Amino acid sequence: MIFFTGFIGTVYFYRIALNGIVTVFAILGTEAFLFWSPRAQQFNTKFNLYTRRNPAAEQTSVQPSDGSTGDLTNFNNTLITKLYVHGYGVAPANSLSSDSMKNEWLNAGDYNVFIVDWSEGNHTKANIPTVAQAITKLITELQSKSGLDLDKVHIVGHSLGAHIAGLTGKAFNGRIGRISGLDPAGPGFNGKPTSDKLSPSDAQFVDAIHTDAVPLIGLGINENSGHIDFYPNGGNLHQPGCFINRVTEVVDNGRIKEGLFTAVACNHFRSVDLFVASINPNNPKGVATQCSNFVSYLAGGCNVDAMDNNVAHAILGEQALLSKPYEKSTIGHKYYLTTTLSYPFFRG
Ligand SMILES: *[C@@H]1O[C@H](CO)[C@@H](O)[C@H](O)[C@H]1NC(C)=O
Ligand SMILES: *[C@@H]1O[C@H](CO)[C@@H](O)[C@H](O)[C@H]1NC(C)=O
Repeated sequence: MIFFTGFIGTVYFYRIALNGIVTVFAILGTEAFLFWSPRAQQFNTKFNLYTRRNPAAEQTSVQPSDGSTGDLTNFNNTLITKLYVHGYGVAPANSLSSDSMKNEWLNAGDYNVFIVDWSEGNHTKANIPTVAQAITKLITELQSKSGLDLDKVHIVGHSLGAHIAGLTGKAFNGRIGRISGLDPAGPGFNGKPTSDKLSPSDAQFVDAIHTDAVPLIGLGINENSGHIDFYPNGGNLHQPGCFINRVTEVVDNGRIKEGLFTAVACNHFRSVDLFVASINPNNPKGVATQCSNFVSYLAGGCNVDAMDNNVAHAILGEQALLSKPYEKSTIGHKYYLTTTLSYPFFRG
């Protein structure tokens, strides 16, 4: 079990107890994670394609190294193409999140699902343009060789992955169908120009989920990022179940599956858990309400009577796309909801 024991300035202290051994460790602010190595590097990004024809055994393209998309024989241009881009310090090969995302998508529909693996460069924010270039290259190849249609592309990115999705969207001048930002990274991006980070003009529709948007100390950005922005449980408080459930989820037979970072960054990863839970159409829905702030939301003080019902409420996650026709009225606002402690999280 992990206990957040407090912070002094930007030093975080965590106490972790695994198999009865208690260790206290400190993390020097969030910037320490994201600026570990300030220099951009050249490295390969791996694209693992799964479809209903190959739900478990991937077909792979490596960019820019081999540059070929010839092995992606199951790619089908009539389907929607989903790409999931992980964040700092994650390797999809050990990641429960990437696996769940892929499995839920393929259970829900017939898609081309790409799990984007930039683990070779996952230790620094400086590498995000390299990854965006690799994704741009893959998409361009698939356009020319396989008839991919940008309208049918949906990129979902967590943390630094959300900004990678944004940079990719900018390379296509916002013509990509949809981008979903899952707690877009905050440190190094708060207050920066939109050219550096995920913003509404990056795709035809941009939705974002904010679960660790705490000014100065949160790992998530403390600003709206899309045409519609969701703030589960206020977006800047502890997410229900965090620091307790997450650890039991990630520790399996004593092995920590996604690394310690996942466990200490529970609020930040909750955006991914929520998105995954939103994919199965049989789960309760994450219905959110437009409100000026979370306190008013809890007190029932949102001014919903004055709004079109389609603007007053929106569904977090996969079905946020239903709000696309109302983007002019949803942009710039905040949508709130509460969740339960564990899967499937939503109250319906
Ligand atoms: C591509 O997907 C469509 C729609 O599901 C399907 O009808 C078609 O048979 C698929 N093509 C191939 C080559 O699998
Ligand atoms: C990045 O991914 C690699 C696997 O390629 C993993 O071993 C490493 O721990 C990750 N980096 C960080 C900083 O967590």
